[in-house]
Amino acid sequence: MTHLAAIVLAAGQGTRMKSALPKVLHPVAGRPLVHYPVAAALEAGAEEVVVVVGHGAERVTAYLADAFAGRVKTALQAEQLGTGHAAQMAMPVLDAAADRVLLLYGDTPLLHASDLRAVVRALDDAGDAPLAMLTCVVDDATGYGRVLRDAGGRVVAIREHKDLQSDDERAVREINPGMYAVRTAFLRRELAALRADNAQAELYLTDVVAAAGRSGGALGVRADATTLAGVNDRAQLADAERSMYRRIRERLGRAGVTVHGEPLVDDGVEVAPDATLGHGAVLRGRTRVAAGATVDAGCVLTDATIDAGAVLKPYSVVTDSRVGEGAQIGPFAHLRPGSDVGDGAHVGNFVETKNTVLRAGAKANHLAYLGDGDVGEGANVGAGTIFCNYDGFQKHRTVIGARAFIGSDSQLVAPVTIGVGAYVATGTTVTQDVPDGALALARTAQQNKLGYADRLRGRLEAAARAAKAARGDKPGK
Ligand code: UD1
Ligand code: CA
Repeated sequence: MTHLAAIVLAAGQGTRMKSALPKVLHPVAGRPLVHYPVAAALEAGAEEVVVVVGHGAERVTAYLADAFAGRVKTALQAEQLGTGHAAQMAMPVLDAAADRVLLLYGDTPLLHASDLRAVVRALDDAGDAPLAMLTCVVDDATGYGRVLRDAGGRVVAIREHKDLQSDDERAVREINPGMYAVRTAFLRRELAALRADNAQAELYLTDVVAAAGRSGGALGVRADATTLAGVNDRAQLADAERSMYRRIRERLGRAGVTVHGEPLVDDGVEVAPDATLGHGAVLRGRTRVAAGATVDAGCVLTDATIDAGAVLKPYSVVTDSRVGEGAQIGPFAHLRPGSDVGDGAHVGNFVETKNTVLRAGAKANHLAYLGDGDVGEGANVGAGTIFCNYDGFQKHRTVIGARAFIGSDSQLVAPVTIGVGAYVATGTTVTQDVPDGALALARTAQQNKLGYADRLRGRLEAAARAAKAARGDKPGK
């Protein structure tokens, strides 16, 4: 029984990130850097993954436990003495049945499981060679280890950027992206033999490649350079994220999603075929968009569930909320956590909802705050309506019955219930429950004083003249 394990090195501080956050926890398209190599290793068939943690060990371990449950173990590298030393720390944790190991770094988010499968296959087909590694050719090799080959084209060593010894070596554009498949027994032996005789006085994992070259061969498997970029600083982090977002857009496009311009869809978000995403829309976390739904330009969705055929017009913000089938949101609507917009309901511009249910067909089309409420089926909430849900100490609920009509500029002082089919007159401050079918009216009756406008104007003008004279202003000024 052959058994493939993976080791992901993620203990480094990432000095070049200049960050309090450990490098491998910096997010790329919604997930920390370290997520991607772990997920790729599992996808490539690794039965177990050992992540070597050090800087921010607790936080990295907590993330991995949460994201990968039982499938990932960690090993601690208390002091960061180099990538070879980090790999040493993983060996005791490795399952004894693992006869081959995939070795990966925690800072290469763009890698593909298919490349990892290819490097494992190369090792399996290799005969005597104890190691296979990916390589790629880049225009600018700055910072990477260079792949050195002999006259016969065999890989003989990896030379770190800081250890380059000649112009010939500096001219090499074939680099080490940091993905290796190695026979476990060979790896165990060669890690134990590493020495820190290099520019950084570290134990280099890459020296294992030279050792393989001397005993049976190190195989180089060519892979596409764009997928293998390592992240060492935040400029490279931004580049990697751009590439990741582009990759996700391409995948969605091939899966039948219409993608206008450049929406930013995080890894893990689900968008069904025949949905449409507008330019600049941002979809995060556990967001799900169903078939035929439209998320137009500039919308920001976090942990949102958008049902079939719903339309989110531009610049709507939806957080931890659901939008039902065929519902219409925005433009410029704000659904805060706990909002549940029923099928066919409308939430229009400058309407804010929080912890509020709008049942099927309910409408709040303009300028309203609906907090801690339940709006009945087919009810209509007029412009400027406020659910006064907070008394400075506690939140209270507003319940509106089916088909009720709330006139514009009403305040509903919670806790309060408006009955089924009831009518609240425009400008009413509702402080008592309204029975089913009743009209609530709470405003001063209107009086019209005929001809009074001109008299009022004359009086106000005279008052203004008198005030000016008292200040000593010149007339006409
Ligand atoms: C490494 C390779 C280099 C390769 C490049 C690809 C070595 C010596 N060099 O260089 O050939 O071209 O990656 O991106 O391996 N880490 C630890 N413990 C340590 C040191 C590092 O866990 O003591 C982890 C880091 O968290 C990181 C990974 O190993 O995830 C790589 O370390 P980094 O310092 O970024 O190596 P590079 O200089 O990029
Ligand atoms: Ca690196």
